[in-house]
Amino acid sequence: MVLNSKGGSGKSTISTNLASYYASQGKKVFLVDFDPQSSSLEWLAARSSGRKSITGIDASISSFRQPRSADYVIYDTPAAVYGKELTALLRRAQSIIIPILPSPIDMRAATPFIQKVLDNGRVARKECRVALIANRCRENTNVFHQLDVYLKKVRKAPFISVLRETQNYNKASERGIGIFELAPYMVKRDRDQWEPIIKWLKSKRSQPVNA
Ligand SMILES: Nc1ncnc2c1ncn2[C@@H]1O[C@H](COP(=O)(O)OP(=O)(O)OP(=O)(O)O)[C@@H](O)[C@H]1O
Ligand SMILES: [Mg+2]
Repeated sequence: MVLNSKGGSGKSTISTNLASYYASQGKKVFLVDFDPQSSSLEWLAARSSGRKSITGIDASISSFRQPRSADYVIYDTPAAVYGKELTALLRRAQSIIIPILPSPIDMRAATPFIQKVLDNGRVARKECRVALIANRCRENTNVFHQLDVYLKKVRKAPFISVLRETQNYNKASERGIGIFELAPYMVKRDRDQWEPIIKWLKSKRSQPVNA
């Protein structure tokens, strides 16, 4: 589940790239969109039928059954989720990625949001695991440095990767694909930045304790 109550932090970008990555690995992937803006489902609609298939589910209109036959279920979530809505979402999640942008406003909003997620019972009991990602980063900027320092200080949630700001995400997105489906020479740096994310998702660190 990709989660951050702050709008525009990269939830849909990360959800769709994860879906494309696992699909391109031959996995059976469900992409569940909780956002009435339907960015992930629109991305899927742009995907050509020749690509590895991904099943989209619109969870913004009605409740749905958790797909049983999936290898991976990826949840894209809306901005501005708090309270009961956040608790309900957290009930479904096994591994949560919170993307955060290098901007003073986003960093300020992240503090109470991360705290709310960490205070959730399932998260506190490690039935659901959380990791942080810095997104849209330009590494030689002051504000990136501030985000880096800030995320390294968050206890109880690992800071697992930094994704750079690049048009590659937009180029892929308009075609309903992920960066893993673009020419490798174009996306070498991006693939390297995704490696720790994939590794975390594969490892026990992202899985419920005592599962
Ligand atoms: N690493 C990146 N480099 C360049 N552009 C990016 C990157 N990540 C996201 N974007 C762009 O930033 C914008 C917001 O990203 P996205 O839609 O994924 O955020 P979101 O958290 O899903 O937003 P919302 O809260 O509205 O659902 C999009 O135009 C997307 O293409
Ligand atoms: Mg979105």
